[in-house]
Amino acid sequence: MSRLPGHRTLCLVMGNPVRYSLSPLMHSAAYQAAGLQDTFCFSAVTVAEDSVQQALDGCSALGVRGLSVTQPFKEAVIPFLDNIDDEARAIGCVNTIVFDGDKRNGSNTDWRGIVDPLEQRTSLQDQSCLVIGAGGAARAAVYGLTRAGARVSIMNRTEERAKELANEFGVTAVSFQDKEAITSAGVLVQTTSVGLGNTTDCPIDTTLLHDGQLVFDAIYNPLQTRLLSDAIHQGARVVEGVEMFVAQGAAQFSLYTNTEAPREAMRTAVLNYLRETQK
Ligand code: ATR
Repeated sequence: MSRLPGHRTLCLVMGNPVRYSLSPLMHSAAYQAAGLQDTFCFSAVTVAEDSVQQALDGCSALGVRGLSVTQPFKEAVIPFLDNIDDEARAIGCVNTIVFDGDKRNGSNTDWRGIVDPLEQRTSLQDQSCLVIGAGGAARAAVYGLTRAGARVSIMNRTEERAKELANEFGVTAVSFQDKEAITSAGVLVQTTSVGLGNTTDCPIDTTLLHDGQLVFDAIYNPLQTRLLSDAIHQGARVVEGVEMFVAQGAAQFSLYTNTEAPREAMRTAVLNYLRETQK
């Protein structure tokens, strides 16, 4: 049955704060590129920290199709879901909920956001990968890299957290001062908040970087962090954080619409916006 104009299936991103989220921009561009602009629409909602259950019940009642979940709710939504896929269970975070009939299915696409852009550039099988950080993004990275067959080490300012994460995933923790761990890594994945919003801060000594390495920074504001510009200067290849945002969003788009994601259009929309606003 054809839909009347303006009758569209709703997808949302929920967070607190959510006003900086580029998910509505990216998903809306994807609908346009895929010819789904009259079928789907995407918006952002701020949810109070103690209202997670009400928010999910509201989505169910309103027939929302897809809910992207950002901080601080990636763990908090879990008790209110009917199913969680193996990836989200292992990572302990859900960033994607699909409402299917009366079932709420939780997934995690963040790990894809890290693994997909890296695998487009190098093989991760037996690759020596150093993850910097031990928060939620690091968990997704360690899960994804391990699954891709990499040899993973974790370095974190609070070394106890690195050890706990390493134990959980059966990988190695190294000291935050370990220079050899930096020079010997083939792939470095930076997941801390250091460098967010500025081009001066950097979590590691970048003079240790060299050619032959691939350096990924999960931060996409600024588009090129100090870590990445130094890495280029040292002869390394880099992956900008925007690639992670686009890849996790592309995986969400497919789950919400059952359609292959127009990745290029999504990347272009996000990059154009960031280049314009970061001038
Ligand atoms: P997320 O879930 O977004 O990954 P998080 O759980 O708050 O965020 O983790 C932030 C990460 O950034 C942690 O690894 C944190 O290190 P600590 O465990 O020592 O706190 C890291 N981080 C934050 N500020 C840092 C700094 N100034 N120097 C080094 N690491 C920092």
